[in-house]
Amino acid sequence: MPPHLLPLTARTGPGGRLSVGGVDVLDLAEQHGTPLFVYDEEHLRRRCREAVAAFGDGVAYASKAFLCRAMAALVAEEGMCIDVSTAGELHVALAAGVPPARLVLHGNNKSEEELARALEVGVGRIVVDSFDEIALLHKLTGGHGQTSTSARRPQVLVRVTPGVEAHTHEYVMTGQEDTKFGFSIASGAAAGAVEALSSSTDVELVGVHAHIGSQVFALASFVKAVEVLARFFLPLGLPELCLGGGLGVAYVEGEQAPTISEWAATVHHACAEAGIPPATRITAEPGRAIAATAGITLYRVGTVKELPGIRTYIAVDGGMSDNPRPVLYGSGYEAFLPRATDAERPLQGTVVGKHCESGDILVRQACLPADLVVGDVLATPVAGAYGHSMASNYNKVTRPPVLFVANGQARVVVRRETLDDLLRLDQ
Ligand SMILES: Cc1ncc(COP(=O)(O)O)c(C=O)c1O
Repeated sequence: MPPHLLPLTARTGPGGRLSVGGVDVLDLAEQHGTPLFVYDEEHLRRRCREAVAAFGDGVAYASKAFLCRAMAALVAEEGMCIDVSTAGELHVALAAGVPPARLVLHGNNKSEEELARALEVGVGRIVVDSFDEIALLHKLTGGHGQTSTSARRPQVLVRVTPGVEAHTHEYVMTGQEDTKFGFSIASGAAAGAVEALSSSTDVELVGVHAHIGSQVFALASFVKAVEVLARFFLPLGLPELCLGGGLGVAYVEGEQAPTISEWAATVHHACAEAGIPPATRITAEPGRAIAATAGITLYRVGTVKELPGIRTYIAVDGGMSDNPRPVLYGSGYEAFLPRATDAERPLQGTVVGKHCESGDILVRQACLPADLVVGDVLATPVAGAYGHSMASNYNKVTRPPVLFVANGQARVVVRRETLDDLLRLDQ
């Protein structure tokens, strides 16, 4: 497996047996069962540190990529803020002990309860997405900017759409004109929102936010966004500009993605070129670039079905319930056997899950070692973002546990769901 698709501390021992964080992953599969998410804690920490070094204080981890209490705590320890976009993400971050001032609340349709909770605990920033939300903020702050518990007016950013089409899948493209997110610059809605927010006594408008999409490889898309945003942002004289997340990561052989540092250098350069004052707080919200490559998923092969002249199906014990990305976006992944990480992979097949759908595909064109047998542990790398966080109980499959590994130790940070967990909401 190419090293850049594996977590940073991945090493191979005799015969190509894989360890991560000094822990043998086949032993983990034996002890904890499969499917299993394994995260390299050092990898996560280094990506967070890189983001803080590159963007400075205020850079936030987009928790939708992967969130549990251990992850929120790790991210906060490493100095990142956290972007939460629902009451649930807010709840988990608070439960992890993250100071509310380090949280940024997002959402295109924040409920009154979500906004009220965010105001009550005093989140650091609210990214305002609609005129209805402005009205709701007015209602909740009683029109005088303060909730019963807050000492100051909530600080808000206005989310705008720069009209830039990022080169990515249409479902994760968000900066174009036709979108449910934010206020359009071109239509004048963004100017209207700024007018409403800056003349309001309810909130303090501190900046502008834009997020052009996710899994974006072309840094030129971010440069284009900065150019459009600068024209809107400069006359406002606001102290903060958040460029969202979206930096892509390599999922398959042959792909290469810019690093967080390269991304930051490019946007900083673009901001300077566009005349944005150096004192401006330029922030970002990477999710995938922090978490994706840190995680691998381990499955066990249950059956191999060879359809002569058609294809070979390799079925594993998870599927679209632990990784819906291939079904949702047609995303590509690699697959390998961690007992022989560096082995030749001449066997072509399709790795499928155990769900009752023909679309339940994890790796459409997998290459695997020729000696693969039923019972083998099969791994998919770059599984740390939008896998566990998008996991479901479809077919009443229990969701896998999550382990963090570091310094030769593994710790369970999310336990495996039990069959009884599947009943816990039934009345
Ligand atoms: C507002 C916002 N910020 C940040 C992100 C994180 O994106 P990524 O994980 O691609 O970095 C997203 C993802 O959808 C988002 O909607």
